[in-house]
This record gives sequence, structure tokens and C-alpha cells, in this order.
Amino acid sequence: MGVLETVILVGSLGLIAWGGVYLGHYGGRFDGSEFEAVPTKRTVSAGPAAAPESPEFKEGRRIYVANCQACHGTRGEGEGAPGVPPLDKSEWVVAAGPARLIRILAHAVEGPIKVAGKEYNNTGMLAWGSQLSPEQLAAVSTFIRQAWGNKGGPVSVDQIKAVLNETKGREAKWTVAELEKIPESLGGGSATELTPEQLRDKLKALPPEKLQALLKELGK
Ligand code: HEC
Repeated sequence: MGVLETVILVGSLGLIAWGGVYLGHYGGRFDGSEFEAVPTKRTVSAGPAAAPESPEFKEGRRIYVANCQACHGTRGEGEGAPGVPPLDKSEWVVAAGPARLIRILAHAVEGPIKVAGKEYNNTGMLAWGSQLSPEQLAAVSTFIRQAWGNKGGPVSVDQIKAVLNETKGREAKWTVAELEKIPESLGGGSATELTPEQLRDKLKALPPEKLQALLKELGK
């Protein structure tokens, strides 16, 4: 064997050995568990340049996996169970304000409902208002508004509480017709919205003569 052949042989053996080690390290297992429906950071992050995840977002993912994923899919694509609409790119999820979304989560919605261009009519959506705390509802709302392809703003605990307050005593699921009458920004969707309670507290804080004048004005 000449020098050249020896170099090539040794080099090839080295490459084969390296390839084996590389595959062992990075190749993964060749079984179904590699494709398990566990949402990892890779499947739910907004992309390579995604900002660091907030604690609410992480908590929201945990709640989503535990409560919603079976029906709405590991990546919010819907059809986790037959006839379930997607949350990814759903106009109900990424609406400008969360007033309708929070109502859907708190008391559920009954179809027909159009989501991302397709009509659904399924009675499966559950009411979460009595199952999850306001903090958990805020976290899961924030998560679904920011996961996958969604780029909605976060939802605060105050916004959740405001809507729960406005809808206190409600048992029935929402219909789309009812939801469409509610401005998206209601319930704290914009920073300037006040709940009736907040408004009352503000009025109480006014000096008596100002309050008198205001009441007189409103009474006209
Ligand atoms: C048992 C199945 C099931 C579970 C669990 C479930 N949903 Fe739904 N969800 C539905 C169905 C079905 C609809 C559509 C209702 C219809 O067709 O009238 C829906 C509708 C929605 C909608 C409005 C439509 C859309 O796709 O944007 C949102 C938002 C939503 N669900 C969020 C959630 C979240 C968040 C959770 C977990 C906290 C959850 N759902 C858990 C079945 C489910």
C-alpha cells in the first residue's frame, strides 16, 4: 500500500467512526417516541428570533397542554378531536382586545362559529371560568395569543377579572351573535376602560361638591 492509499484508508475509517459517534449523539431514536405530541419549545416558539418566554407564557403552555391540547391540537391547529377549530391564526384568539376571547374561555361558545375561514358547529367547548383561576385564565389566554403563528398582546389578570365581573352569574354558552355585539376592547382591552366597580370608586373619591354637580348634570 502506498502512502496515498494509507492516508485515504485511515481518513475514511476516521470519518466512519466520527459519523457513528455523531449519529449516536444527534440522530435521535428511530422510534415513534421522537414524534410524540409533546409540545417542546421547538414546536410552540414563535421562531428562531423569538423573545425570551415570559413566566405567564410558560405557565400558559402548561395549562394548555393539560386542558386544551387534546381537542385543539399540539400546535393549535385544531382537529385534535374531530370538528374542533384551530387556535393558531384564529381571529377570535388574536383579536385586538381579549373581551370576546375571555368570554369564550369563561363560559364556552356554541356554534355555528367561523374560524379562519371555516365553519364549525360542535358542542364540545368547555366553560373554564369555574375550573381555572383568573391567573390561570390570563396565562393560557396570553399563551394562545402568542404561541405558534399568533402575535397578539398579553392578557392581564385585571382584564380577566373585569370580564368575569361583567358576566357574573352567566351559565349559558355564548353564541356568536352575542359575542359580536361586544366590542373587542371591552373589559380592559384598552388601558382606559374602567369596570363599573372602578368607576364607582373613582366617583366616591370625588369632592362632594363635584360629585353633586356631576349627578345634577347626569340627571338632566
Ligand atoms: C373537549 C374539547 C375541547 C377542549 C378540552 C377545549 N376546547 Fe376550545 N373549543 C372546542 C370546540 C368544539 C370549539 C368550537 C365550538 C363550536 O363549534 O361551536 C371550541 C372553541 C374554542 C375557541 C373559539 C374558536 C377558536 O377556535 O378560536 C377558543 C378560543 C377555544 N376553544 C379555546 C380553548 C382553550 C384555551 C381551551 C383550554 C383551556 C379549550 N378551548 C379547551 C373544544 C374544546
